[in-house]
Amino acid sequence: MATFQSLPGFREFYPDEFARRKHIFDLWRRAAHAFGFAEYDAPVLEPLELYKAKSGDEIEGQLFSFTDKGGREVALRPEMTPTVCRLVGAKASALKRPVKWFNIGEFYRYERMQKGRDRAFRQLNVDIFGEAGPEAEIELIALLTQCLGAFGLTDQDFYVRISDRNLWFFYLEALGLDQARVRAMLVAVDKFEKYGDDAFKGYAEQFGALDAELKAKVLAFLQIKDFESLERTLGSLPHEKIVARLADWKKLLGGLDAMGLSRYIAVDLGVVRGLAYYTGFVFEAFDRKGELRALAGGGRYDDLVEKLGGPALPAVGFAIGDVTTALLLEQRGKMPNFVQGPDVYCVIGGEAGRRAAFADIHPLRAAGFRVDYPLKDVAFGKQFKLAADSGAKLALIYGDDELAKGVVKIRDLGDRTEHEVARADVQATVRSVLSGGT
Ligand code: HAM
Repeated sequence: MATFQSLPGFREFYPDEFARRKHIFDLWRRAAHAFGFAEYDAPVLEPLELYKAKSGDEIEGQLFSFTDKGGREVALRPEMTPTVCRLVGAKASALKRPVKWFNIGEFYRYERMQKGRDRAFRQLNVDIFGEAGPEAEIELIALLTQCLGAFGLTDQDFYVRISDRNLWFFYLEALGLDQARVRAMLVAVDKFEKYGDDAFKGYAEQFGALDAELKAKVLAFLQIKDFESLERTLGSLPHEKIVARLADWKKLLGGLDAMGLSRYIAVDLGVVRGLAYYTGFVFEAFDRKGELRALAGGGRYDDLVEKLGGPALPAVGFAIGDVTTALLLEQRGKMPNFVQGPDVYCVIGGEAGRRAAFADIHPLRAAGFRVDYPLKDVAFGKQFKLAADSGAKLALIYGDDELAKGVVKIRDLGDRTEHEVARADVQATVRSVLSGGT
């Protein structure tokens, strides 16, 4: 018989797996709320055009796209950033600034499958619109550390690498590269960590072999891993913009330090981000051991709202993925084991017992307690095992003896104590016991 399997890279979430994912989303949502971000939502299917020449070649090549029945070219969203720019751009004049928004949603990329990379995955996207200064980056990088710290992960487990496409531009322009060459060079820098010297192939194909001195300078710059070296390297370039930019850097690093977050931060010019729209500070979170793909990535994209038809509006944000976050939590023993039992399990003897139980079950459920019972008659003795295995805190026993006496027996499945209560008092007693009373 033919069996149908899910498509490669599309995960299924059985209840245990779902509970783990929900745990991740719950803590992300709590963190975003704590930082004053408001939740929004948007379509998963978008016009293909939204991503063309905006997200960058890599993502464009990974799109799940097709023509719909109305002849429209559409794509499953590979990321949220163009969509949220459209939403904010359309109502920019009416929105209170800064706009601080977040979303948790599913995204689709036809990736080469590997550990930590699927074709359908979830991200928390967090973005700030309307703030041009590094104050927005402070807020976002602080939130990013909280999105991982909330699980009990520490600076031993993850860190955030911060870099700056502006400084790369200033530096490469000072070395004599025009805009097109700078862009091609940044693509090479983005690939260098993974491909080494091969990363420069694309640049050479476009602009001819790379001059050895230029290459040495690019390699030296991308190896900068602290602010002092950055200042030293750029200090010799007499450029007003560089001076102002280094002041932004001081504000950013100083703000994060004042929040007690320096231990999570690494200056690292090797990060430039592959997406086409980034304009300024960029950052990525990684596990300390360097075993996993990126946990999160983001940066400033001050031109994108306007490019998508909105007003000129500065913007910065990041997305953290559920796949690598879950892998890191499992690896570090920070993923709790979820027992999804009911609060109460009813043990029922015969039809009369069932009727008596039903009279209590529905009101208890309506009051918000999780109550379960065997749908069909099951041998009375066996139901005690079902109750114990269910993970419930209490068993309510509606046997013939209890019914004859007009009582229900309440068993604490933890300490195995039992007591009888009058039928009329069952609901009040259960409520009291489960809410911590006696
Ligand atoms: P990104 O770096 O492409 O950025 O993705 C952010 C995170 O999403 C990654 O670090 C990773 O955890 C997760 N992710 C990406 N692709 C996959 C995949 N195929 N499988 C599993 N997880 C994946 C963006 O998407 C930007 N739009 C982020 C942003 C928001 N920038 C500004 N605002």
